[in-house]
Amino acid sequence: MITLADVEAARERVRKHVHHTPLRHSTTFSKLTGAEVYLKFENLQRTGSFKIRGALNKILQLSPDEKRRGVVAASAGNHAQGVALAASLNGAKATIVMPEHASIQKAEATRGYGAEVILHGKDFNEAQEKCFALAKERNLTLVHAYNDPMIMAGQGTVGLEILDDLPDVDVVVVGVGGGGLISGIGTAVKGKNPRTRVVGVQPEISSSLKQSLAKGKIVPATATNTIADGLATKSVGDKTYEVIKKVVDEALTVTDDEIAHAILLLLERSKNVVEGAGAAPLAALLSGKLKVKGKKVAVVISGGNIDITVLDGIILRGLEEAGRIVRFSTEIGDRPGQLRKLLEVVAENRGNVRDVVHQRNRMGIPLGRTVVELDIETQGSKHRDALLSELKKAGYEVRP
Ligand SMILES: Cc1ncc(COP(=O)(O)O)c(C=O)c1O
Repeated sequence: MITLADVEAARERVRKHVHHTPLRHSTTFSKLTGAEVYLKFENLQRTGSFKIRGALNKILQLSPDEKRRGVVAASAGNHAQGVALAASLNGAKATIVMPEHASIQKAEATRGYGAEVILHGKDFNEAQEKCFALAKERNLTLVHAYNDPMIMAGQGTVGLEILDDLPDVDVVVVGVGGGGLISGIGTAVKGKNPRTRVVGVQPEISSSLKQSLAKGKIVPATATNTIADGLATKSVGDKTYEVIKKVVDEALTVTDDEIAHAILLLLERSKNVVEGAGAAPLAALLSGKLKVKGKKVAVVISGGNIDITVLDGIILRGLEEAGRIVRFSTEIGDRPGQLRKLLEVVAENRGNVRDVVHQRNRMGIPLGRTVVELDIETQGSKHRDALLSELKKAGYEVRP
């Protein structure tokens, strides 16, 4: 178990190296949910996530000899960067094992903080086995991503900052992977203010906490392929679970679509780049799954390290869902001027063409006909529906 005193001691230790990140009231998200919503922006933390807090709390407590020998960690993402920077701030060498398919950007960022990166194994478990073996072989200190009281206490400093800035907070909402973050935040929050509710959020596809709390024992997730890769852990740890049982009031799940929608709104409305794991708690509010009307809610936006290609896909999908991009195909006659006629209907109805493909050799198209695929920007679902109905009125068959 960890105590409030452990988290307070961690805070004194890490204070000079980490940012006290902003907790900002959001008018947009308050309006959308009927609650008083405050966002805790850990995506603005050093290394782009809260992970530096726990790693520093651990490494700062190592003996000079342990620091000299160095540390080792397994991670596909944020923990890697947190450990790498925390080690370099302490003059310790860090070795980080990442799965072979780890994102090149993340491996580069980790090397950029001075760590040796070893790519090993097809998944996180194989990387972790290699990490355990290296710890023995090279006599290195293992820095676990969550299942360690010093890591939990370090992550808990996020909770102390929330209470400093909003002492009468009613609910704190936190994403859960291995459970280090919520164990620490829960210990801090319940220790200072026992009436504040602590809620854990996981992706539906890779959820274990809700079932584990219901059954009273750890039940592993059956899959881990979610866009919230920071939360794609098979289950919480045995040590974190013991803390979670005491400090977490509720666990719930959100779908990947709900997470993608939250990422898009955070980008567009609050101008923040947030990764899936960081947006999951907000998704719980926006989906209406977490009942918070009239309450003061702190939502932990835990990280912002998202691949640009993933973000690009999310933006596109979000725009389509909001009716701001519409893609369809239609047929026109294979004669000069027919494409222009079609595009005139689009232009008259203020559709903005993003892409157009004109294919006369498509299989199954009668001679003398051509397929046109259009990708059009509109102002929203009403505008999209009006545009499609004008096209139909003009005689075009619209196929999504
Ligand atoms: C951005 C982000 N949020 C939340 C988590 C979950 O933290 P924990 O594993 O301590 O539950 C992680 C873990 O990697 C993360 O990277």
